[in-house]
Amino acid sequence: MKRVLMITEDGSHTIFIPEMDEHYHSVHGAIQESLHIYIEQGLLQTTKTELSVLEIGFGTGLNAYLSYCYSQKKNISVNYICLEKYPLNEAEYSVLNYPTAIFPEYSSIFNLIHKSEWNETIEIPKNFNFKKNKADLLTFQFDETPQFDLVYYDAFAPGKQPEMWTDRLLHKVASTVKPDGIIVTYCAKGAVRRAFSDAGFTMERIPGPPGKKEILRGKKTF
Ligand SMILES: C[S@@+](CC[C@H](N)C(=O)[O-])C[C@H]1O[C@@H](n2cnc3c(N)ncnc32)[C@H](O)[C@@H]1O
Repeated sequence: MKRVLMITEDGSHTIFIPEMDEHYHSVHGAIQESLHIYIEQGLLQTTKTELSVLEIGFGTGLNAYLSYCYSQKKNISVNYICLEKYPLNEAEYSVLNYPTAIFPEYSSIFNLIHKSEWNETIEIPKNFNFKKNKADLLTFQFDETPQFDLVYYDAFAPGKQPEMWTDRLLHKVASTVKPDGIIVTYCAKGAVRRAFSDAGFTMERIPGPPGKKEILRGKKTF
């Protein structure tokens, strides 16, 4: 599918897929959205100093990059694992303006995470282990023991890719989360809230970034 580079309202890039009529991020601001949902309402909500993070949909690497930057700022050790079925190619990721727009001192890390081998863990100083799985969430086999403290569920919208939001798949992801672990997503649909709730999470609707009234966050309580 064709992918088109676009500028969002905060000046940061996103990618648009004309065939799906879907963007990777909010057109109101990609960095603004990622910072609000995944960093402020996810990473910075935990008091742990060692975190195991799962991201569904590595995409442009923006969430991974910001997670790295904040892990350094807040002195959190992170084990970051993400899944991506349709990786961007070098011509696409090398023009993304995230590292010039935010934390330029870590721009080499943005390149490093993109250039790292698929399915191999790399150790990035300080204390950030990173692994990209080139994999389809629908068939990916997670370890049986719950291993994640934090999940970023950042798939394309349910209306565009409904197979990524079935109860069965959301339960599969939910089962990878440790007790007290957190799941956060931009999608505030009732069906998604109920699926995570049925899977043991206490869910809350919280205000979203500009252009999005609410997002969902849940804590695993049983
Ligand atoms: C909303 S975008 C993610 C944006 C990304 N988190 C970022 O920071 O740029 C959704 C991502 O999910 C990926 N994706 C779509 N179907 C998938 C699947 N079955 N398994 C894994 N990833 C998938 C897409 O290729 C895309 O990169």
